[in-house]
Amino acid sequence: MDEWREVASTTEISAGQCKAVTLDGRMLAIVNLAGEFYAIDNICTHGYAELSDGMILGDRIQCPLHGAQFNIRTGAVESPPAYEPLATYPVRVEGDVVLVRMQD
Ligand code: FES
Repeated sequence: MDEWREVASTTEISAGQCKAVTLDGRMLAIVNLAGEFYAIDNICTHGYAELSDGMILGDRIQCPLHGAQFNIRTGAVESPPAYEPLATYPVRVEGDVVLVRMQD
């Protein structure tokens, strides 16, 4: 399945905040970075922790368990102990609706 799915309204996620959502059994974090929205996997690649419980530091999200940091735009690891990047997903905004495209 390859389709755009509604995940949030733009008004419910403030800049510098994120929202955890589950789509097709996949846990995502929808992040508002200065008015731009991004979608990343919400589970850390190092262990089992929800990144939405961590902190957003500039354009990075920090894991609440061991402190790994990931680039919110690209999913790349910015700080260990994680070494595998996060999956990222295409996002678009229509009006005040945030949509994410899920791919097989
Ligand atoms: S579980 Fe995220 S850094 Fe270890």
